[in-house]
Amino acid sequence: MTVKVYSASTTAPVNIATLKYWGKRDTKLNLPTNSSISVTLSQDDLRTLTTAAASESFTSDRLWLNGQEESVSSPRLLACFKELRALRRSVEESKSELPPLSTYHIHIVSENNFPTAAGLASSAAGFAALVRAIADLYELPQSPGELSRIARQGSGSACRSLFGGYVAWEMGKEVDGSDSRAVQIATEKDWPDMRAAILVISAAKKETSSTTGMQTTVKTSTLFQFRADVVVPERFIEMSTAIVNKDFETFGQLTMRDSNQFHAVCLDSSPPVFYLNDASRLVIGIIEKLNSIYGRVVAAYTFDAGPNAVLYYLQQDEPIVLGLLKAALPELESWTSKASTASAIASCPEGIDHTSFDYLRNSVSRIIFSSVGTGPIPTEESLIGTDGLPKV
Ligand code: DP6
Repeated sequence: MTVKVYSASTTAPVNIATLKYWGKRDTKLNLPTNSSISVTLSQDDLRTLTTAAASESFTSDRLWLNGQEESVSSPRLLACFKELRALRRSVEESKSELPPLSTYHIHIVSENNFPTAAGLASSAAGFAALVRAIADLYELPQSPGELSRIARQGSGSACRSLFGGYVAWEMGKEVDGSDSRAVQIATEKDWPDMRAAILVISAAKKETSSTTGMQTTVKTSTLFQFRADVVVPERFIEMSTAIVNKDFETFGQLTMRDSNQFHAVCLDSSPPVFYLNDASRLVIGIIEKLNSIYGRVVAAYTFDAGPNAVLYYLQQDEPIVLGLLKAALPELESWTSKASTASAIASCPEGIDHTSFDYLRNSVSRIIFSSVGTGPIPTEESLIGTDGLPKV
């Protein structure tokens, strides 16, 4: 007799912070030293697809990421499994007719459509998808905000990927982390014209993981405390207000300044943590110049724990931004996907110095164009077969 395999699948988005999370006040519960804000990117461009399955026939918990079986021993993963099983147990206690999934082992299969650990927030989409898929498998009644507390324990930034649109992670005050969770500031429909271009400068695994880098900063940077105590609390209010008011000028200014301050506290750490490289700094210079030519913020750059640049801009300015990027990086295949909007590409703005373009051409391997998008979406597309193993 074949034993039933229960399963649920979901996709989850990448989010890119505009007010950076950097520092933990509790490493076990993954509680941050400051609140943060991000934009959720469209899953048409970047997403993780995850299937979670449970069966009485499974003999251990197992996880496959991008075709590779991985260990399930990481405390972060175990924390997520434990919390989700406890929630399922309480559902089963109130409805005895339900199958006892909380007592079964689980299999997780997950695939990204973008390079893992390339500074592209893969852990955010990964843990958001994992938590959402298991919560769907278990038919949990918890809201995305409640689930975000669990995803946070997998990877801090993951809590923000449980929502679409514009999302805050409120750091909270409680020692048990019960109030450290994501909330939606605005939906993707409230401010739909936000666009993003990710310049992939390196798709290699980053040298210093965020987890390690941020704790070096917490322990050693003297600038860091000022950032956490003074700068971020003010910026958090200003940026939330700018999002609600669709004020791109303020949003863009704050985004760039916060990226720069985040990299400044990295440099102020001992030993210093470097994520930007020469190509990243060239992008900063070009975008600063673009904005000064127009006398307003046309595009805002931001960099996470890696050299890749993320540019935010509004749809109405797409011809300008694409004109610049096409002039700098004409050979990239990425333009084929943009062919439909080719007529909307303006010529390179006058006054931009082309001498850095050669260097950029050798550094940028790909541009991923995206826009603000939705939170996790359940899907019928399953990565697990009826035998409970990854489909080949
Ligand atoms: C620079 O969420 O990857 O992208 O909680 O240790 O898993 P852990 O860190 P992670 O850090 C993200 C740092 C960042 C800024 C941000 O996304 O807010």
